[in-house]
Amino acid sequence: MLNGERKIARPFRWAMVGGGRTGQVGYKHRLGALRDNTAFQLVAGAFDIDAARGKDFGENIGVSPERCYSDYKTLFAEEAKRPDGIEVVSIATPNGTHYEICKAALHAGLHVICEKPLFFTTAQVQEIKSLAKEKGKIIGVTYGFSGSQILLQARHMIANGDLGDIRIVNLRYSHGFSAAESAEKYSDAAKWRVDPKIAGPSFIIGDISTHTYYISELLLPHMKIEKLLCDRQSFIKSRSPLEDNAHMLMHYDNGAVGTAWFSAVDTGYMGSQTVRIVGSKASIEFHDYNPNELLYQVQGQPYQTLHRGMDYLDASALEDERLGALHTEGLSESWANIYLKFAIAMDAKNRGDEDFLKNFIYPGIDAGLEGVRWIENCVRSADQGAVWVDFK
Ligand code: NAI
Repeated sequence: MLNGERKIARPFRWAMVGGGRTGQVGYKHRLGALRDNTAFQLVAGAFDIDAARGKDFGENIGVSPERCYSDYKTLFAEEAKRPDGIEVVSIATPNGTHYEICKAALHAGLHVICEKPLFFTTAQVQEIKSLAKEKGKIIGVTYGFSGSQILLQARHMIANGDLGDIRIVNLRYSHGFSAAESAEKYSDAAKWRVDPKIAGPSFIIGDISTHTYYISELLLPHMKIEKLLCDRQSFIKSRSPLEDNAHMLMHYDNGAVGTAWFSAVDTGYMGSQTVRIVGSKASIEFHDYNPNELLYQVQGQPYQTLHRGMDYLDASALEDERLGALHTEGLSESWANIYLKFAIAMDAKNRGDEDFLKNFIYPGIDAGLEGVRWIENCVRSADQGAVWVDFK
């Protein structure tokens, strides 16, 4: 159980690039990082592409005026001169900026926490992975939904054989926020998401499917995709060549099969993500609008609902418990769990404890790499006319 007491010797001195007043995701980072006062302290930032707005915002949330910088290069250079300079930076800017900022941060000797999709290509991720290794730094990737403890119960039950042999994987993350073309007219965040120069090779695949794909990896670490077919299209034609809707079929190396649906034009739907894993004995289902529960369905028996925080769960699913059973947790706690894990990983890295890191589960650079690999394979299949491709 977590109660905010320190897990590391002292909080990391933390900065943000992006995530300011106009950013959609910035507050989620701060909710996650600052939930445990003992893990991170926000001391600096270059919060906005608009320098004046970024400085005003930084001061408004309590950062010293002289540490609210006009851009990330100045942030890294000036902080490096201070004895109490930053040790880690979070990157919460549009996709096309992640690679350059991440590289600059590593060269400045910082740990990095970066938004998904990490970069545009796996080659870029491999390069940054090598650089991070050379510099002895952690890269965390904010698959923010994946910190729900009940997912670790699902992972445990699958590993324990409670479901039998895994046969079918069913992933879905859909919403209708881009059902109309006007979405781009009224929101800068919607506009850059359909611009390949800023979003990368995909819209909805990179934007939301990487979250659900990572959850599937978390639950099924023993299974790898061998072949994949992706069909993508844009119902709003101006978004082409990027897609606002995509379906995938997957073949896994253990004989299991999978289907996935990701959409920004699922008109009216507010159910967010669903992960259903079907085994030869039983199935489980997770809905991220209620991360307090896991459905467990055994053939021939009444449905069971496993509740977060209860003693009957595996120890791994109780370690990150914060509020106790009955008291609802949600996305904020999920982000806090992920951020605490980043802090613990960075602390272990600083102490050279590689043995600990080998077995520590958190979304790091390899999770970011697999997310970009997933996007690359989906796009390659779709752009050849929705054909089966080897997953590589
Ligand atoms: P947004 O467009 O709402 O905000 C981007 C912010 O970055 C803006 O405030 C802008 O001023 C700032 N910015 C842009 N370039 C900058 C630079 N060079 N230096 C400093 N600030 C800069 O975008 P949104 O939706 O917040 O997405 C940002 C990133 O977060 C994207 O990579 C996106 O995929 C990811 N994201 C992740 C979510 C998650 O659950 N993990 C949820 C939403 C977005």
